[in-house]
Amino acid sequence: MAITHEYRTRSDAVPLRSFKARGRPSAIAGMGVYAPEKIITNFDLEKMMDTSDKWITERTGIHRRHIAEPGTTTFEMATKAARGALDAAGITAADLDMILVGTSSPDGPFPSVACRVQNELGAPGAVAWDTLAACTSFVYGLSIADAYIASERADTVLVIGAEVLSRMLNYGNRGTAVIFGDGAGAAVVRPAPTGGGFKSWCLGSDGRGYAQVTAGNIEKGAYAAKDAAPFIEMVGPDVFKFAVDIFIRQANEVCNTAGIALEDIDLWVPHQANFRIIDAAARRIGLPLDRVAINIDEYGNTSSASIPLALEEAIRKGRVKSGDHVLLAGFGSGLTWGACLMTWV
Ligand code: ACO
Repeated sequence: MAITHEYRTRSDAVPLRSFKARGRPSAIAGMGVYAPEKIITNFDLEKMMDTSDKWITERTGIHRRHIAEPGTTTFEMATKAARGALDAAGITAADLDMILVGTSSPDGPFPSVACRVQNELGAPGAVAWDTLAACTSFVYGLSIADAYIASERADTVLVIGAEVLSRMLNYGNRGTAVIFGDGAGAAVVRPAPTGGGFKSWCLGSDGRGYAQVTAGNIEKGAYAAKDAAPFIEMVGPDVFKFAVDIFIRQANEVCNTAGIALEDIDLWVPHQANFRIIDAAARRIGLPLDRVAINIDEYGNTSSASIPLALEEAIRKGRVKSGDHVLLAGFGSGLTWGACLMTWV
């Protein structure tokens, strides 16, 4: 069956599910990130395909992206980010009850990237597995961490988003090749001090939109067809409209559910897919850009790594203080979406 793209996303037709955090509260206790040293600028891309710095900058806000050297593995990048998160949280790998890696670019079908990270860190016995919700994977992972800590089935969970998307880029397709980059980000989630931590969640998927963003030549059966090119393909303008709409609806949902006004959001950390998507949604939510974490200019779209890369940078730059209301929001292939509101500890 060919991908027809007949589905046109109307996320307003999909009821959103949101819920208050319940049980024992959890919070992010420390973060770490990693990005490959090699940088490809828009000017480099001009020499590789029919594109221009002007087009990329104006249409996406991207100036550079970090690209892994051939042979770099997702688990190595994930492990580097994880070590930073453990240090920032002041814990060791032996403290971990669970390791969750969000990735759309694992090193192979199995074992999971999470088990490779577990082995590198030295955390035998922790529960380790990968979550695949494309660019929403990191938020899905946080929600699992929060649920396990809330129900007292875990105390300390490591949530990672790590991608080597450059493996899936076709430099003959200028519509996708200029957008994506590689990177990793990690967060340690632990029980929260009184008053802090995650307050509300809004998660969902709509498989009717599965063909909007794909990788791996899925109609041929990705791993089954040995010659199937794993390239990313997407219906950019449709995903753009879906993204703006779902960002706005998620922000309203998590704020209503938590009983917090939209104007009381101190920092919004959106998935970094396109500056114009973020800007359009921020205007309609009513948030000035100085309350939005944006670093797409430096990294491009790193899928599951984009939210932790942007949040960690905001923390490092002193943009988040105790008591702040912080909103994380993602969307991606699937289609999937996920947002959470937290009070920073
Ligand atoms: N350089 C120059 N021209 C280009 C390039 C390029 N890199 N890419 C496309 N063009 C051309 C197109 O060929 C088209 O030319 P035409 O008018 O002669 O046909 C023109 O630019 C406009 O193309 P559009 O696709 O309509 O451009 P748009 O403004 O929509 O920007 C983009 C494209 C950046 C992809 C945008 O649609 C977007 O960001 N969409 C959202 C993507 C997204 O968020 N994906 C997230 C999911 S990723 C995941 O889940 C893993």
